[in-house]
Formats: sequence, structure tokens, C-alpha cells
Amino acid sequence: MKEPKIINLPKILDKRGNLSFFEYPNQLPFEIARTYWIYDVPGGEVRGSHAFKEQQEFIVALSGSFDIILNNGENELKFSLNRSYEGLYIPEMYWRSLENFSTNSLALIVSDRSYDSDDYIRDFEQFKKLKNG
Ligand code: TYD
Repeated sequence: MKEPKIINLPKILDKRGNLSFFEYPNQLPFEIARTYWIYDVPGGEVRGSHAFKEQQEFIVALSGSFDIILNNGENELKFSLNRSYEGLYIPEMYWRSLENFSTNSLALIVSDRSYDSDDYIRDFEQFKKLKNG
């Protein structure tokens, strides 16, 4: 079974400034079809709060910090992202919320699918039913 996990990214230290990257298949377990980012989040706001039927994601805090709360239908897992050289891999079928955004935080999200509103599960009870069969 696929599990969420923190993926450490290469960090090329340089006195001119550091550089990190990810690519498939060396760091990422999927090929990227789409990239988006979340920024200018007002204090206290929560993004996400849904699951995807098929889409997988990888999320990096390029700037600032935020928490990602994952729910597998039974348990909750919390990941705090605050480094630009690591990210969280989230398989399909995890309920996920992004919260506790710091000022000027920037969340970079890559996924293996183009945007498809039909891939969203927005009702938590429906998610639990689908997840637990
Ligand atoms: P949504 O996925 O609900 O945001 P979040 O999960 O961060 O709370 O998307 C918000 C809106 O943006 C929704 O109307 C769909 C649109 N959208 C796109 O058109 N393309 C995309 O790639 C994404 C992620 C969202």
C-alpha cells in the first residue's frame, strides 16, 4: 500500500545561495502533470479539506511554514513543513487539510493529474465509506 512520506530533496550548498530540486523518478514516485501553488493565505485560513480519488501529490513549503493534516479514514497524521529541501508525498485517497500558514508562506504542489473536479471527494463521510469499503 502507498503511504504518505516526507521525501528529502537534494540540497546543493553554495555560498551564492542554495539550490534544491526534484524530478521523476529519482525523488518523486510519479510523473508531474500539473503544478500549482498557494500563497497570500490570511492568518487562520484552512485550504483543502478534501480527498482525491486518484490524484497523488507532492507538497513543498518553498517559503514559510504550514501544517498538513492527513486522515486515512481511521487515524489522523500531522506533518509540519518548513524547509524548502523536503516535501510530503500524499498518495490518492487521503483526506487532507493545509492549515496554520505562516505569514508569506508559499506551498508548491505538484500532482500526477490535470485538474479534474470529478476526482475530488468533498464529503468526509463519503470518503470514509469509500476508503473503508
Ligand atoms: P481547490 O482544489 O478547492 O483548493 P484547495 O484544495 O486549496 O482549498 O481549488 C480552488 C479553486 O481553484 C477551484 O475553483 C478549482 C480551481 N483550481 C483549478 O482550476 N485548477 C487547479 O489546478 C486547482 C488546484 C484548482
